[in-house]
Parts: sequence; structure tokens; C-alpha cells
Amino acid sequence: MKFDLNHTWLPYTQHNIAPMPLPVVDAYGCVLKLADGRELIDGISSWWTVCHGYKHPHLVKAVQEQASKLAHVMFAGLAHEQPYILAERLAKLTGLERVFFSDSGSTAVEVALKMATQYWKIQNKNTRKQRFVHFTNSYHGDTMGAMSVSDNDGMHSPFVGFTPMQFMVDIPSDEIAFNEFDALLAAEKNQIAAVILEPLVQGAGGMKFHSPDVLAEIYRITKKHDLLFIADEIATGFGRTGYMFACAEAGIVPDIMCIGKALTGGMMTLAATCASAEVFATFNDHAFMHGPTYMGNALACAAANASLDLFEQEPRLEQVAKIENIMQKELAKCRALPIVKDVRVKGAFGVVQLDLKACHSRAGGNPGSQTQELDPSLRWDGKSDDNSFILSLRQKFIAENVWLRPFGDVVYIAPPFVIEEKDLKVLTDKIYKILSKQK
Ligand SMILES: Cc1ncc(COP(=O)(O)O)c(C=O)c1O
Repeated sequence: MKFDLNHTWLPYTQHNIAPMPLPVVDAYGCVLKLADGRELIDGISSWWTVCHGYKHPHLVKAVQEQASKLAHVMFAGLAHEQPYILAERLAKLTGLERVFFSDSGSTAVEVALKMATQYWKIQNKNTRKQRFVHFTNSYHGDTMGAMSVSDNDGMHSPFVGFTPMQFMVDIPSDEIAFNEFDALLAAEKNQIAAVILEPLVQGAGGMKFHSPDVLAEIYRITKKHDLLFIADEIATGFGRTGYMFACAEAGIVPDIMCIGKALTGGMMTLAATCASAEVFATFNDHAFMHGPTYMGNALACAAANASLDLFEQEPRLEQVAKIENIMQKELAKCRALPIVKDVRVKGAFGVVQLDLKACHSRAGGNPGSQTQELDPSLRWDGKSDDNSFILSLRQKFIAENVWLRPFGDVVYIAPPFVIEEKDLKVLTDKIYKILSKQK
């Protein structure tokens, strides 16, 4: 079996210090089976994608059947059924009439940004409405435009100066902050194309939550100034926050919504940018200038259709509500630990935020290593492998046969929705056990 790193370049990884990735030979339900026979309980659903568990027979069958019929044909000038069926289903679910397919979350965000800028350009060819408002701790992907609307204090810091300048503000939470947000939009609306937000949960930027009321108010102010509102539901969509889409909990329908990750139930990569009828109608006499080669891939769309079947046939949202209850109860005891700053749960996201600074000063250095400094620019390094303390935590979880991947200052659980109570309790118990040993 070939598992070496002689030629492969890993994401967010310093090859010099990172441990070898674990060789996975099989995965089923919530279990990752390793080459040496060990079985790990997966607490993070392969970056929040595998909502139905691994190897769900309905998904496997759908992809196998589609592969034997038609794996792929180009999506321009030729048609096939799966993306058309999927677009209709997604339009019903999101309340947004038009679905533009692409191949990854970052690309879906690029598409949304381009859609919003072209939308204004069509209406006024001299427009300056080409900038975006985004929020502290935002993360929208790793491509150029997506990075420009992400918080660059951390994983994107090497690219400051390379990406276009946007407007970044804190998520408002009180009247004064909402007034400031309102004033910014009023002052700059001639330059602003849209406001972009991860609704309710900012994921890779630190697992920060805000309330449905805050989301609804940001949306209201955005619309008051006649700007477009882009909801990036790539992480939150498909039940993760307890509703099929986080926007639904706030009672809003954005102008543009990005989806990806769990869209195919974790079977393969697919993303989409959904647009309102009004946005689409603006393009009446214009072509939207974007077109990925693998757009509307038949295998991926078949997987996504099968995944939507499962949301209809199996009690996924009830499972999420149950997971939320269990995590609320089981993670609560972590609050008493000296290293813990906060515990919060939203749907099937359970977060234990660490007080690394306090821990650092008590230990007289980095809690994970006496030799390596805890570089503050890496603390918010959403998916980076650079933080030695976090790296050491990851290894401790693996030794306990659970797959959890803390980052920045958070240890979090985002399990497949089909996880059994006993397995979820193993995850929460291991978190308590490992964190209670940190001084
Ligand atoms: C909210 C959000 N948007 C966009 C992305 C980028 O998606 P991808 O990694 O598929 O490009 C992510 C990935 O973590 C995300 O969480």
C-alpha cells in the first residue's frame, strides 16, 4: 500500500513538522478504518460534508448507477438530467429560482462575487459598485475573491496586498454597532456591490456564533440600502445549524446563496450559487461570464440528488436536534476546566473554546511545547497545522481513537448526523478527558 509524502503537497501543512497523515482504508457510518486496523470515531465529518455517514448505500448506489450511464458531459450546448432535477429541488429548498453549479465552495463564492458585480455593471456600465462588505472572523474560501472577503488575520495573512481591499467590520450586536453598520452602508453604497456573511455560524474563522435576530437585522439594513445580500451557507447549509439552511431560522431569503460541502453528502465535490429571480432577470440580455469545465457533473449531481432523497426519507433534522441536546449537556462540564474559555453549541456544531493565553502564561510558555513560541498570527489559523499545542492535542485525540481536529483556539465536534448517542458521548468524554489534563 502506498502511503508516503515524497511527491504530495498537503494543505495548510508545514511538511517539516507535521505528522504523517493517517492512512484510511475504509470508512462506514461514523467510523474511519486505518491501515493498521484501528477504528476512529469521526467527529468532524470530513470538514463537515459527510452528513449521512460514510458509504450510505443510497448514495453509493446512485453514484454507481450514474457512472454506468453517464459520468460527465460538458454543460454548455449539451444537457443531461441530473443537474436539471437538482436545480429544481434546490430552488424549492432555498427559495432562490436559479442555480449556477460549480465545483468547490471557494468557486461558488467567486461566482457569487462576480454575479453581484456584473449585476450592477449591467445596470450602469460606469458603476463603481465592485467592493464587498464582510465581517471579522469571516472565512469564504481560499481563492482570490473569496480570500478578499475573508478575515486576513491568520491563514490568509501571506496574501495581504495581493487580494482586493474590501470593507471588513465586526458583526454588529448592539444598537450602536448596528447604527455604525448602517452609516457605513449609507456612506459607501456607491462602491458596494453586496454584503457577504456566513449566516449564524462563522466556521473556519473560529466557530463564532451570532443570533438569528442579528442575522435578520444585518439583512434588513443591507436591503434598506438596496444592496445585494450574499449568504455563504457552504458550512451551515443542509441541516448543520438545525434548519435546512441557517437563513431560514432568521426568516430571510438572501439575494444570492452559496452552497457546497454537504450538498453531495460528502461523496464528491460540487457547489452551487443560487440566485433570486430578480438577480437572474437583470441578466436578461446578458450572459453571466463564468463557466467551470466540470460544471453540473453528472456523478456529483446524482450524489446530491440522492443526498436530498435522504433528507426527505430519513429524520436528519430531528437527528441534528438530538445531537444539539446531547452536546449541550455533555460539553457543559468542560466549562469548569481552567483551559476552557467558552462552550457553545449550535445544531450539530459543538465548540469548546480554549483560553490559550492564560494557559500559556501559567505554563510559562506554549502549553504544547517549551521550545516553540505560540505565534499569535497562527492562533487564528483556521486550517493550519502550524500551532504546536493544537498539533499535540490532535495527536492525543488520535491516541484515544477519535478523529477531532482542533484549530486556532477551538476544539469542536461536527459529527455526521447519523452518529449514535454512545459514539457522540465518546467524543465529548474524550474532549473532557484530554482538556482536563492540560494545565
Ligand atoms: C463558509 C465557507 N465558505 C467557503 C468555503 C470554501 O469551500 P471549499 O473548501 O470547498 O473551497 C468554506 C470551507 O471551509 C467555508 O466554510
